[in-house]
Amino acid sequence: MTATAVPAATEATGPADPACCEPLPVLGRDVTVPLVTGGDVTYAALDYAASAPALQRVWDDVAAYAPYYGSVHRGAGYLSQLSTDLFEQSRATVADFLGCRPADQVVFTRSTTDSLNLLASALPAGTRVFVFETEHHAALLPWQRATGAEVVCLAAPHTPEEAVAVLDVALHGAPKGPKLVCVTGASNVTGELWPVRELAAAAHRHGARIVLDAAQLVPHQAVDITALDVDWVAFSGHKLYAPFGSGVLAGRADWLRQAEPYLAGGGATRTVARRADGHVETEWHTTVARHEAGSPNVIGAYAIASACRALTEAGFGRLEAREQRLLKLLRDGLAAIPEVRVLSLFGEDSARVGVLSFVVRGWNSSHLAAALSAEYGIGVRDGLFCAHPLVRHLLGTDTEDLGACGSPDPGAGFNGNAIRVSFGAGTPDEDISRFVAALSALVREGAAWTYATEAGRCVPVAPGTPVA
Ligand code: ALA
Repeated sequence: MTATAVPAATEATGPADPACCEPLPVLGRDVTVPLVTGGDVTYAALDYAASAPALQRVWDDVAAYAPYYGSVHRGAGYLSQLSTDLFEQSRATVADFLGCRPADQVVFTRSTTDSLNLLASALPAGTRVFVFETEHHAALLPWQRATGAEVVCLAAPHTPEEAVAVLDVALHGAPKGPKLVCVTGASNVTGELWPVRELAAAAHRHGARIVLDAAQLVPHQAVDITALDVDWVAFSGHKLYAPFGSGVLAGRADWLRQAEPYLAGGGATRTVARRADGHVETEWHTTVARHEAGSPNVIGAYAIASACRALTEAGFGRLEAREQRLLKLLRDGLAAIPEVRVLSLFGEDSARVGVLSFVVRGWNSSHLAAALSAEYGIGVRDGLFCAHPLVRHLLGTDTEDLGACGSPDPGAGFNGNAIRVSFGAGTPDEDISRFVAALSALVREGAAWTYATEAGRCVPVAPGTPVA
């Protein structure tokens, strides 16, 4: 195997009927899990928005490379050279996948959170950052800690058009100086799509830059940095079917080049010397290496590149059509359960990816999520999804009261947390149907097991305790 054996990204090729197709092979499809009620069942993974399963293709690529693993940018041996080539080719693959401009840089990080913290550490002095309260904490919080930055947190808009108008006004009234807008492409709570191109146009009209948090968008849709005209894109490998600890910050090089290195250490330096007065003098790289101190995660980077190739070859048109069909199946199923309220910022019919949160009247969401897992083998997420201001806004409540863990009260209102179902390229139709059937049965008939709160979570009590 040589590094040059890595296949180049190919043109998207989808079959004639895009909604027809099988899910892409992912790991874990055959895993069975025990039920508290007895027996085992195939696990239905419906928490892709938190972490998606690895694509089989990614796993195979990583396994084929693993024996050739070596250090990157710091070894003379053959495997170090090969690994270095592979790492840099992975960077080029990601740049192609994102439609990067020639001068853009692709920095490998640990995750979206890491990428946005890196950018926050690189803001020019006095930067004003504009962000909506609806962002995931990874996109909301890094700016608050950036030295010398001022954060303007905009209230949740009701429509995509309002988002653009509100940003336009805020930027118009801002004093001179560097400005950055940070926005998500698709909400990790509602799955709703944000008007990225229009927000980018508004930002640029006022001399601001814009970073796109594409963590929830990139697994579902083609993201083109040039076509969207955003300055940076951040995403995580573990949501892109490549769970090997890498993420990406891609985009403009200038702010990064001028900033202090994100981490101080080997690889980021051109030269280091001890002066006679005992001072250590360091000359830092001005290339992408400046922010990649320490041994790079070549497997993580290669896994992301492999996922980029696999999704491109599968064709986003086909993947999207299939996902929208599953979304309709899910929405129709939920619409038939009167106690369910689907959460939405932009309205019922707004465009979204395969991410959807809801609450059920009278039910503690943690209780429902625990019962879906324990009694049906279905994995979803419950809570506030690291987007507390958004979920509280959507629920219209600041209450921490989640309702009783073990006894739904149909006479009560909605509780203070939500349930999220999320899926993607590896999800079979059957998982969505199973989820809808399980939820209807739980809401209609109640849980079969006894649950209690432990360490703040609703969990099934000790084995052998069915509902009396
Ligand atoms: N950002 C991930 C989620 O929404 C962890 O679940």
